[in-house]
Amino acid sequence: MIPSRGRCAFLVSICALAASTLLLPCLADDYAQQNITVTPGYKLLPGIASVPAPVRVAPDQDWMGIDGSWNTFSLLIGDPQENVRVFVSTASQQIWAVNRLACVSNVTDPSTGQVTQMNVLDSDCETSRGNLYNNTASDTWHTKGYYQLWLEKNLGLVGNGLYGFDTVGLGMAGEKGPSVQNTTIGTLVTPNFWLGHVGLHPKPTNFSAFEDPIPSYMTDLFTQKSIPSLSFGYTAGAQYHGQTVLASLTLGGYDTSRIIPNDLTFIFAPDNERDLVVGLVGLSATTASAQNVDLLKRDDVTMLIDSTVAELWLPVEICKAFEDAFGLKYDADTDLYLVNDTLHKTLVASNPTVTFTLGQKYSTDTTLQITLPYAAFDLQASPPYRGLQEKTSYFPIRRGNESSQWVLGRTFLQEAYLTVDWERQNFSVSAIDWTFGREANLTPIVSPAYAVQEYDPPKKPGLSTAAIIGIAVGGGFVFALTMCAIGWWFWRRRHKRNLEAIKAKYEAEAAAAAAAKKDATEKSDEPPTSPIHDSEEGTRVFPKAELPGDSAVHHEMGTDLKDKEPMVISEADNAERQIYEMPGDMPERQEAGGRQLSEKETMVVRERIYNGFDPNGTPDVSPMVEEPPRRLAPISPSEVTMVNSRLPSNTNVSPVTPRTPRDGAFLETSDTFFQLPPYRPPRDGRPAEDTLLSPISPLEGSTDTSRRRFSYES
Ligand SMILES: *[C@@H]1O[C@H](CO)[C@@H](O)[C@H](O)[C@H]1NC(C)=O
Ligand SMILES: *[C@@H]1O[C@H](CO)[C@@H](O)[C@H](O)[C@H]1NC(C)=O
Ligand SMILES: *[C@@H]1O[C@H](CO)[C@@H](O)[C@H](O)[C@H]1NC(C)=O
Ligand SMILES: *[C@@H]1O[C@H](CO)[C@@H](O)[C@H](O)[C@H]1NC(C)=O
Ligand SMILES: *[C@@H]1O[C@H](CO)[C@@H](O)[C@H](O)[C@H]1NC(C)=O
Ligand SMILES: *[C@@H]1O[C@H](CO)[C@@H](O)[C@H](O)[C@H]1NC(C)=O
Ligand SMILES: *[C@@H]1O[C@H](CO)[C@@H](O)[C@H](O)[C@H]1NC(C)=O
Ligand SMILES: *[C@@H]1O[C@H](CO)[C@@H](O)[C@H](O)[C@H]1NC(C)=O
Repeated sequence: MIPSRGRCAFLVSICALAASTLLLPCLADDYAQQNITVTPGYKLLPGIASVPAPVRVAPDQDWMGIDGSWNTFSLLIGDPQENVRVFVSTASQQIWAVNRLACVSNVTDPSTGQVTQMNVLDSDCETSRGNLYNNTASDTWHTKGYYQLWLEKNLGLVGNGLYGFDTVGLGMAGEKGPSVQNTTIGTLVTPNFWLGHVGLHPKPTNFSAFEDPIPSYMTDLFTQKSIPSLSFGYTAGAQYHGQTVLASLTLGGYDTSRIIPNDLTFIFAPDNERDLVVGLVGLSATTASAQNVDLLKRDDVTMLIDSTVAELWLPVEICKAFEDAFGLKYDADTDLYLVNDTLHKTLVASNPTVTFTLGQKYSTDTTLQITLPYAAFDLQASPPYRGLQEKTSYFPIRRGNESSQWVLGRTFLQEAYLTVDWERQNFSVSAIDWTFGREANLTPIVSPAYAVQEYDPPKKPGLSTAAIIGIAVGGGFVFALTMCAIGWWFWRRRHKRNLEAIKAKYEAEAAAAAAAKKDATEKSDEPPTSPIHDSEEGTRVFPKAELPGDSAVHHEMGTDLKDKEPMVISEADNAERQIYEMPGDMPERQEAGGRQLSEKETMVVRERIYNGFDPNGTPDVSPMVEEPPRRLAPISPSEVTMVNSRLPSNTNVSPVTPRTPRDGAFLETSDTFFQLPPYRPPRDGRPAEDTLLSPISPLEGSTDTSRRRFSYES
């Protein structure tokens, strides 16, 4: 029992602790930057005592969208702060918010045609689009001008926006995250993007070729020391797993509580508009009528993981395979797979599943399976999405004519967790651990600017610390035992000699006594028995105890893993399914000529149709995205020519950024291009051999080099 005075002090300190943890942040309502000193897997560089902690961005409770229902995140923009709801874009580097103009209209008197009320706000529109941002109401807004939105132009989602700079904070009042001052904001009215987004890409924005590139939101967060690295972990959340599971966004790390870990790491493709690319190695459906229906009607499919869009944009052949497997019907008017009530009931009752097998050719043989139940595809589209007149169920796959249109959107990220390390240029995809109620467990990813990665020592006997200690202890023990044995042998020899001497003495004395007494008939012949003498023959070998068979141990581990990780990692046994070259996959960056003009024309038409934005007011420039200077030499088409000609000194056109040996070595020359990517330590004690890279077959090595270069990253 705690004495009463001590107990009182104890209670006071508990209260103080509670107050400081619960009340103070609420009272201050400000974000407190925190640093961490413990960085598992990373060794801080000399002179660096701590690094910023990873930031968890709290999701809202809201689910929004006209192409489904998606969990949003909050941003606080401008001064006074306006709370807007946004999605997460893994492809964008900017903050986007819906401009207030998107929901205002002039009311006209139908009889006279006269405007009776000006700029009337439609509050349903305002709510539906995640709250609006009125840039003119913000004191800290600086206008830049009208520019093309650029993002998702490959999917035909074009439009323009009023760009400027303002303060953007993550989170909402009461749960504020870090904020960035004077960051790039695109404000839009086009319904092609119904809500705004927080862009997680670190590439800068070039508004024109004559201006300095403007750092991205992520880069700003990193340089102002709010996050430990340019990296993130994200999953979209889902509402269909019995209970609602909110989205999860971590900046500068990832949340281990949400994932089933695996050993597969993907390497960036060399195009910064399409870098999070995975190979689709297998695609199968299990329906009421058939198991493992193969839907992968092409073997060259590479998919961009991009949370900006909701749907899965798949090659037309694969869409047709979906039609056959699920009884879907393509609606040419909306370009959607609309699902009527009859079909919806059938699909809900049979609950088919679709399994994606992902891999990355030339980099690894390991594959990963992500399975989506029908519930993940059971989305509802609302007007004005794709010209719909009423709310309709649809199946969120879209026809992608070209490889530049193949995208795994948010639908996929309901069942997958994406972790991206922009600095080390790799990423991983994990299946979601649907165990409810687990505490968030943020694991930092630390920038190479702060730390070097520590690799687990290879799991060979004699090299691990435990083994070394074991050997040292064992060796010492054996040595001590040997010394004891030798000592014992010497001692016993001497002891024996002493005994013999005593015995001889005794016998001599006895003989002498006998002789002296002349008692010849009663003479004793028995030698004296001593226990020591007896034990001389006593070194016995006991039957060796049987060691437990190690197969049993392995078996147990195996089932344990299986229970924890259903279907996650499987070796690709069928090599044929692995081939997925991506010929001419890279969008060619053309000169500012034709393409942009035709795009602009499309945009003009669309803007007139959709929102009456005055496209003529748009300057000729578009926010061009450029490689961030920190990127380790991504291969642009011009560089490929350069590498092909093997004249690396002739690099005036596109400066080659310094390449670190580890990450960039394989990009160096065409001969070393196919070298193995950096060694990946095994996770969870699973053997690394399974996941190491397969040698490149001579066949692949003999194909056209420029092709190879592209397909490498596929
Ligand atoms: C947090 O870490 C960064 C990077 O090491 C350092 O520059 C900064 O001073 C640290 N902040 C605090 C409050 O320790
Ligand atoms: C409403 O009318 C005013 C004046 O004609 C015009 O400037 C404004 O752009 C109109 N607003 C909309 C949303 O059409
Ligand atoms: C934006 O805010 C300003 C200043 O408060 C106001 O005058 C203007 O009408 C607002 N714009 C819209 C479109 O509501
Ligand atoms: C905000 O950033 C832009 C572009 O980097 C710059 O031109 C402008 O001067 C900055 N404004 C302030 C107030 O820092
Ligand atoms: C973006 O800016 C950088 C640095 O000023 C420049 O080298 C590059 O050419 C620009 N990119 C484009 C597409 O204009
Ligand atoms: C529902 O759609 C299916 C094809 O997707 C079609 O065969 C069926 O006739 C439709 N039913 C109704 C009632 O429209
Ligand atoms: C794909 O091609 C068809 C036919 O040419 C066209 O109607 C459709 O708009 C194209 N889709 C996209 C997304 O470009
Ligand atoms: C990136 O690669 C390193 C090793 O080079 C690995 O430790 C890390 O887990 C990878 N990151 C991701 C997000 O896969």
